[in-house]
Amino acid sequence: MARKLKYDIPGPDWRVEVEEAREKGWPALFDAPALPLVVEIGFGRGEFLTYLAGEAPNQAFVGIEYSEKRVLKLARRLARSELRNVRLLGVSAQEATARTIPDASVSCFWINFPDPWPKKRHFKRRLIAPAFARELVRCLRPGGILEVATDHRGYAGWIDEVLNGTPGLENLNAPQPWRASPEAGRMATAYELEWRALGHPFHFFRHRRRP
Ligand SMILES: C[S@@+](CC[C@H](N)C(=O)[O-])C[C@H]1O[C@@H](n2cnc3c(N)ncnc32)[C@H](O)[C@@H]1O
Repeated sequence: MARKLKYDIPGPDWRVEVEEAREKGWPALFDAPALPLVVEIGFGRGEFLTYLAGEAPNQAFVGIEYSEKRVLKLARRLARSELRNVRLLGVSAQEATARTIPDASVSCFWINFPDPWPKKRHFKRRLIAPAFARELVRCLRPGGILEVATDHRGYAGWIDEVLNGTPGLENLNAPQPWRASPEAGRMATAYELEWRALGHPFHFFRHRRRP
């Protein structure tokens, strides 16, 4: 039998509404005067985001995820944790960036294993697409980093093409399009461990907004 979702937040609630983020701005929401933000898009179970935030308590982390259930579950976990530097937005990445993230305010975007939408008729649903890549560049500070990982070979080729065709981005793995293995110390999510056990290939992209 499916477990019933619990809606109460047993401590501080770090979820933020889009309107609140627009009106107050991220520095006020983090109670810090000026911040570079670190943003994870599609955080899923949230273990990567909470790991990053625990490693860098003085940085401000925004998690964006359009699954309401996943946002709720992470909000409950954060409420019970000591972390004070994570805020969650439960909307699509496209809406979150367009409506809440000012120009040149993000030091790093993490996009780990976005849904590959392998059927041709679904390619238009892919998160990494030319318009959204331009939007990420707008949000990044000069020198800011975009990290993307996928285990899907076809999507990797597509991501490579999109990112290399986006003005203002440079590939830090050049002349290779991506790394096939993670950098030492990078945390693996539960999905990643499952796929690794199944022998999936990995593609880790790292691009920088040109200074
Ligand atoms: C395959 S899962 C990967 C989860 C996690 N990043 C990981 O590596 O374990 C993709 C996640 O992205 C979320 N997602 C997909 N498209 C999104 C969008 N446009 N905006 C926000 N979240 C999105 C999905 O709800 C899902 O949780």
